[in-house]
Order: sequence, then structure tokens, then C-alpha cells
Amino acid sequence: MENNIRVMISEEELNKRIREMAAQITEDYKGQAITLVCVLKGSIFFTCELAKRIELPILIDFLSVSSYGDATKSSGMINIKKDLDDNIEGKNVLIVEDIIDSGRTLSCLVNVFSERNPASITIATLLDKPDRREVEVDVRYTGFTIPDEFVVGYGLDFAQKYRDLPFIGVVEDEK
Ligand code: IMP
Ligand code: MG
Repeated sequence: MENNIRVMISEEELNKRIREMAAQITEDYKGQAITLVCVLKGSIFFTCELAKRIELPILIDFLSVSSYGDATKSSGMINIKKDLDDNIEGKNVLIVEDIIDSGRTLSCLVNVFSERNPASITIATLLDKPDRREVEVDVRYTGFTIPDEFVVGYGLDFAQKYRDLPFIGVVEDEK
């Protein structure tokens, strides 16, 4: 079943890089607590692996957004399908994303969260596709910068499939 998927980033490479990112976050936020905001569903694996390795008091909350709609791509609007459970006022919020593509999702999220008066907002993304950027986003932590290819696995899907793969791959024979 998986032989049509080319491995782009192996499980070992992911583990190593996420460990480095967690160490950096631990150092940067020393003496503070952080709220990890997992953007469902793609960020679930990354959020779990990061959370396990950050050595700080952590809260984890979840948010689900639907994309800005197929017709109105330029509006830059997102629809929050499931909002955070808890108030982020006064909290150090770290938004955990699977991948930044156009940048629209994150740029909207940062705007929405800013109005809730958190102590700080930063972004950690596992993957970044800078070639596709339409909106500038200030990303503090980036796992891997990748070329403009559609990737799956490690939480990321193609039509809801392949999220379970333990590596980042490219679907070769399906469009
Ligand atoms: P943006 O608003 O264009 O930055 O959208 C980012 C979102 O699009 C990500 O959180 C993913 O859910 C999805 N996405 C973008 N590129 C890929 C990809 O290569 N594979 C799977 N999902 C992707
Ligand atoms: Mg996402």
C-alpha cells in the first residue's frame, strides 16, 4: 500500500529535528509556562512529539479551522470550526502547525488570537514551503524547509488519507 509514497523526511530525521526544536523552546521559555495550540488535524503528531520533549509546564489546546473556501481564496478568511476550550489571556501561546503554505491560515489565526490578549504568540511549524507564500508570517521555529511538493504523512493528509504514516512523503502515482 505504501510503495507509491516516496520518503522525503524519514522518521529518524523527524525525531532528531523535533528534539532539537523542543530543546530550543525549553531554553527560550525558561521559567515560564506555555500553551501549545494544536491546529487540527494535521498538527497532531507534531504537537504530541514536541509536547513530550519540552521540559516546561505545558497546557495543550486544540483548534480546528476550515480553509478559506475554494471560491474566495483571496479573502484570506478562515472559519473556526472548533475554537480553543480555554481562555488564552495572559498566556504564552505557541501555535503548532504542520505546514505553512500560502501563510493565510496562520496569519488569520495570529490576528484572531491577538485580540484575546495573550502574553505572547509564537509559531512553530514542522514544515515550510516558502515558494508558495502569499502572506508574510513571522515563524519562530521551523522544522524543515521543503520544495513545492504536496506532502503527506505524520499527520498530513491527501483527501484524509496517509495521516498515519510515520514519515513525510510524496504521493507518486495519485493526483
Ligand atoms: P496555508 O493557509 O496555505 O498556509 O495552508 C496551510 C494548510 O494547508 C496546512 O495547515 C495544511 O493543512 C494544508 N497543506 C498545505 N500544503 C500541504 C501539503 O503539502 N500536504 C498536506 N496539506 C497541506
Ligand atoms: Mg494545518
